[in-house]
This record gives sequence, structure tokens and C-alpha cells, in this order.
Amino acid sequence: MAGPLYRYLAGDHRRLDTLLRTAVAQPDAMDTGPYAEFRKGLLRHIAIEEKIVIPAVSGGAPGKHSDLAARLRLDHGALASLLVPPPSRSIIATIRTILSAHNPLEEGDGGLYELFEEVSGSDPEMLRKLESAPDVPVLPHNERPGVLEATRRAVERAGYELK
Ligand SMILES: [Fe+2]
Ligand SMILES: [Fe+2]
Repeated sequence: MAGPLYRYLAGDHRRLDTLLRTAVAQPDAMDTGPYAEFRKGLLRHIAIEEKIVIPAVSGGAPGKHSDLAARLRLDHGALASLLVPPPSRSIIATIRTILSAHNPLEEGDGGLYELFEEVSGSDPEMLRKLESAPDVPVLPHNERPGVLEATRRAVERAGYELK
């Protein structure tokens, strides 16, 4: 059975999915409130994984689970770069495609969260550490045209295409 660390992180995926679905529920207009919450929440979620979860699973040994960590980090880079320009249909569709491939690598059997639960599940402080992780500073959307090109490159580096 999944432990509390797994449940916290997988629960955050559900929460973010709901926010994104709410933001795009109307076909003609993006609901900016839920999208802003999604953006802030996804950046915090990624920071938790990059700063706490992946280092714990690698255990200070650079080679340990390095393929999984590298894969997840490329996806995180692509997702973070998709949050820089203002949201469009193509941005949202690409975020959804990446998340639907990415989250199973974390939640699935032998995935990041199971490994994390194995190494850190007995640490009584760890859940509190996840829960109290701060929001990361979120900049306003950047509308310069070059930004979309940088986003496209980050998406392609991770093996996806900007839709
Ligand atoms: Fe992730
Ligand atoms: Fe995640």
C-alpha cells in the first residue's frame, strides 16, 4: 500500500490536474484564476521533486537511478518553459501530453514515488518537509516572441513537440 509520501505527491498531481481542467473547461476562454493556481502549484511541485525527492532517491550516488532522474528532469525543464509564455491552446495541449507521460513515471510501479517511499518513508520529518515546502517565486508571463522559440527547444529536447 502506498505510504504518506507517495500519497502526498500523487495527491498533488490530482490537485494540479483538476486546476488545469477547470482552467480550460470553457472552450472559448481560459479561466485565468485556476490557471494561475495551476502554474504556481506545478512550479512548486517540480521544485519539491528536484530539490527533495530526486536527491533522496539518488542518495548522493550520481549513477543511482540516473536514467529515470535525467528523463524526469528533461520533462520538468519542458514543463517549466511551457509556463513562461502566456497560455494558448497549443501550450495547454503540450502540457497535458507531457504530464500524461510524465506522471506515470513517478506514480507507477518502480517509479520515483515508490523509490522515494522506500528510502525516506521511515523519516518522520519527511512528510512535514514536503508539506512545508515554500511556493517558488512566479514571474509574470513573458510575451516576447523569442520566448516561444526557447519553449519549443526545451519541449523538443525532452522528446516532445509543441502542438
Ligand atoms: Fe515530476
Ligand atoms: Fe510529480
